[in-house]
Amino acid sequence: MLTLGIETSCDETAAAVVRDGRQILSDVVYSQIEIHRQWGGVVPELASRNHLIQVIPVIEHALGKANISLKDLNLIAVTSGPGLIGALFVGLQVAKSIAAASGVPCVGVNHLEGHLLAILLTDHAPAFPFLGLVVSGGHTTLYSAQDFGVYHRLGTTRDDAAGEAYDKVARLLGLPYPGGLPIDQLARTGNPQAIRFPRAMSADNSLEFSFSGLKTSVLQHIQKYGAPSGEHLADVCASFQEAVADSLTKKMIAAARQFKLTRLVLGGGVSANSRLRGLAQERCAASGFELFVPPVSLCTDNGAMIAAAGYQAYRHRALRENQISAQPAWRL
Ligand code: KG4
Ligand code: ZN
Repeated sequence: MLTLGIETSCDETAAAVVRDGRQILSDVVYSQIEIHRQWGGVVPELASRNHLIQVIPVIEHALGKANISLKDLNLIAVTSGPGLIGALFVGLQVAKSIAAASGVPCVGVNHLEGHLLAILLTDHAPAFPFLGLVVSGGHTTLYSAQDFGVYHRLGTTRDDAAGEAYDKVARLLGLPYPGGLPIDQLARTGNPQAIRFPRAMSADNSLEFSFSGLKTSVLQHIQKYGAPSGEHLADVCASFQEAVADSLTKKMIAAARQFKLTRLVLGGGVSANSRLRGLAQERCAASGFELFVPPVSLCTDNGAMIAAAGYQAYRHRALRENQISAQPAWRL
């Protein structure tokens, strides 16, 4: 069964063809980062306009790379939320139009379920139940995943998402948007113990996160010592990154213990982070848990994860095709 996955919820126009929800035949991502960088963040209006320009060429490219045509498709999966409303409309309208013209069924996918299930596209995929941590630019949430479509939220961020904290701190440090990768790269030569930034909500037993205090601490450090450069900049990046990875992995392990889950899964753009991946591995090994992390290309936004999640939704849930519409604040 061949699924076309379409993703346009934020600033990546992406399409992929996936066989049986597991095997990637093509995965094409057009990133709008260069367009938004000059504004220091995603400009919704520009995102919609550029999705409109790119979405057809990206889909054609994905079909071409998979060596198939529209008539070979069995399912169309499209992100219907959460995300920017105008951006979602573009992908949804294209998906519904292709479905209407070809008679192929179309299923709306929650972007966060896509991140959670991206791991299914690897050779090392977990069985249910598992603990999932989705860490992206807009979300930082722990889930107990019991089965396809059966997810319980265990904890989420009270303020900024982890990726949002990366992007805001990068801006404070004069680094380009999005800030995750530049901070990750600079942190490699820095000392993670140089500055003890706070780990919010570490004293209580809750599984909630908070990152806005950490961002303020970095700001206060800059106000006190001046804009860092050279070794000092690397130390600030490494110390900030350590605080994020420490908070995320501690809560993840605590949740796994509390809910007696032994398989732990990472997903979302921030799970591309080298320190988070390393520390999660260390702590899982020390606790006897098994960690599952997708390759970096499946952590950040892509169409393959939407195809994978859409395929499972189609198999396991009732389809209400005519009701697919944009849900900008859709909670998983
Ligand atoms: O999942 P994603 O591509 O889009 C959303 O659904 O939000 O995640 C984007 C976020 C951005 O905040 C970006 O800075 C962050 O993921 N990110 C990283 C890394 N690569 C991307 N954060 C930390 N380290 C990285 N290597
Ligand atoms: Zn995402």
